[in-house]
Amino acid sequence: MDLQLPPPRLRERRFDVGDKQVRVLLGHDCLDEAAEAFAALDADRFVIVTDDTVRGVVSGKLAGLLEQSAPTLLLSHPPGEDHKNLATLSRFIDLALDFGVTRRSVVLAVGGGIPGNVAGLLAGLLFRGLRLAHFPTTVIAACDSVISAKQAVNTAHAKNTVGLYHPPEMIFIDLGVVALGSPRDLRSGTCETVKNALALEPGQIPRLRRLLRPGADYTPAELAEIFELSLDVKGRVLLEDPLEKGVGVLLEYGHTVGHALELAGAGTGRGPGTTGVRHGEAVALGMAAAARIAHRLGMLDSAAVGVHEELIDQAGVCRCLTVGLSPEAVMQHIEFDNKRGYQRHRAGEIPMVLLEALGAAAHPAQHYLTPVPRTEVLAAVHELLRQGKECAKGCESRV
Ligand SMILES: NC(=O)c1ccc[n+]([C@@H]2O[C@H](COP(=O)([O-])OP(=O)(O)OC[C@H]3O[C@@H](n4cnc5c(N)ncnc54)[C@H](O)[C@@H]3O)[C@@H](O)[C@H]2O)c1
Ligand SMILES: [Zn+2]
Ligand SMILES: [Zn+2]
Repeated sequence: MDLQLPPPRLRERRFDVGDKQVRVLLGHDCLDEAAEAFAALDADRFVIVTDDTVRGVVSGKLAGLLEQSAPTLLLSHPPGEDHKNLATLSRFIDLALDFGVTRRSVVLAVGGGIPGNVAGLLAGLLFRGLRLAHFPTTVIAACDSVISAKQAVNTAHAKNTVGLYHPPEMIFIDLGVVALGSPRDLRSGTCETVKNALALEPGQIPRLRRLLRPGADYTPAELAEIFELSLDVKGRVLLEDPLEKGVGVLLEYGHTVGHALELAGAGTGRGPGTTGVRHGEAVALGMAAAARIAHRLGMLDSAAVGVHEELIDQAGVCRCLTVGLSPEAVMQHIEFDNKRGYQRHRAGEIPMVLLEALGAAAHPAQHYLTPVPRTEVLAAVHELLRQGKECAKGCESRV
């Protein structure tokens, strides 16, 4: 007689960052199991870093469960990129020390990529490195930011300018919690998976065509599939390049123009966390710009540009998200992009990841950054913003 076993509640994956193996547990509606898994880290104290929205959704409950195994401090900041900064970090360092953290304590990030990065830096700095665990609650965090050792906060100059490398011990993903995110945030997260496929693994494109929907109403099972696609690519990259400075730079495809779109929206009431351009949406539009630039420079054929457009449309991101942004503000942020200095580049040139074909980045001078004349970047930004103004009102992208 065949014994029909129920499917296991949790799926387990692992990936390597240098010589460190990171354990990932993946489930659905499994907060008790998450608390058990974190308790097994045998911490003398937990410091949860979260934002004020996620606190109400899940961090409060998780803190209550963790309190049963060790004293737990809940540190929360208002949501949004404006709070991913040194002021938040400094405040949290003092509060964690007041709470009595020791080398046996664990910093637990509960939330999207923003509290995740603040927590990562907090863990990396306290006693030169406390253990870090993640409970990501957005697609971006689950599929992208937690699968990395990079931790950074923003300064007034640019995004992610102050940081360090500090890989997590473990990651626990409750897809039921991730699915609670807004369509904008789910959409934003899937764009990073699209980026991985375009820049590194075009073999994933047929599966993405089947999975992506502009409405971004993904089920936990679909989110699990999107996670697996991301882990496939990022896990492979991190094995080869844990510091993301070699082939890992390709993960920054679309981010030169993307980061600038994101930051140009900040402070205008259209910044991230409000109604502006989300990180992944900005990356999608940044990839559209990069593809256009590569095409104009004679590197990328129009069919490959078409695949970019198709997947970005199918992910539900439209150029009208840029309405209200000025090309000058976008260019100013591009000038401060954090990829400057990987290579010498001449004044008037902007280093960018550009593709010669899907999954094949150009690598001039054995590096993956192509120097692009500033005028070409400016033309692509103008085109992007012009097309944005042409979009009909009520576009699904903005919901
Ligand atoms: N390697 C890396 O470290 C890396 C990689 C990718 C992105 N990032 C960073 O991640 C950040 C973007 O991440 P993000 O989009 O997750 O931002 P985020 O943390 O601000 O989350 C987006 C919004 O969703 C809300 N939210 C989170 N989980 C929710 C849930 N389950 N239900 C309802 N609302 C929820 C948050 O309160 C917030 O308003 C950027 O700062 C980016 O630089 C870092
Ligand atoms: Zn990104
Ligand atoms: Zn639109």
